[in-house]
Amino acid sequence: MNYRASIGGTAAVVVAAGKGLRSGQSVPKQFAIWRGKPLVRHSVEALLASGISPVVVVIPDDFRDVAAGALAGLDVKTLAGGDTRQLSVRKGLEALEGTMPTAVLIHDAARPALSTDVIDRLLAALEHQPGVIPVLPVVDSVVHANADIMGSPARREGLRRVQTPQAFRFAEILAAHRAWDGPPDAGDDAQVAQAAGLEIGLVEGDEALSKLTFSSDFEKSGPAFRIGSGYD
Ligand code: CTP
Ligand code: MG
Repeated sequence: MNYRASIGGTAAVVVAAGKGLRSGQSVPKQFAIWRGKPLVRHSVEALLASGISPVVVVIPDDFRDVAAGALAGLDVKTLAGGDTRQLSVRKGLEALEGTMPTAVLIHDAARPALSTDVIDRLLAALEHQPGVIPVLPVVDSVVHANADIMGSPARREGLRRVQTPQAFRFAEILAAHRAWDGPPDAGDDAQVAQAAGLEIGLVEGDEALSKLTFSSDFEKSGPAFRIGSGYD
């Protein structure tokens, strides 16, 4: 199956139902203005521009009006999320069940700088595997920590930093979320998929896709800054 050729069969779930507690913003961070627009709007626009449809945005129930303003004019469906990211993803997937897309991209609203290149890499690899995630190497040395005392060093060569969007065959990832009996705060969807026995492929991620997490990520130009990127 060629997911690029059948991109119309590729949907997206953008999770934007968190509280953004670590970001120190006056609204949940996904609605804070960043580079001239609400954070969530950046990646939703990128998905729509890539021909991904439908796009479901999972939002906090008590910020419906704010979300409507942030996404005004965009062809998206919004629905209320859950208490954890995993529950928010599951609700988003279940909202797509009626349309039964072939594939789905699951993406954090907190990663605004989503490029077409990453989407293309994921969908090309998805032709060969049921799930694919973007990763980057770990360049700094890595150690275990006991509070603020250094523990044993870890080998970084076999480690990767995992980003979103994560791409899956739709029926498989929905079934994996329904079967998940681990903690409700599963780290990400690849872990849920792997627990259900799916093989997860790796493609090259993008430094610009770093997640905005702390208030300092909003104060500085941020990891997504690129001269001429068109965001400023
Ligand atoms: N998310 C969600 N539903 C939740 C929790 C998180 O949809 N119950 C989303 C967030 O909106 C974000 C993504 O999952 O786009 C990654 O989560 P994170 O960066 O941890 O965001 P928050 O949980 O909002 O932030 P914090 O942990 O600092 O409170
Ligand atoms: Mg969180």
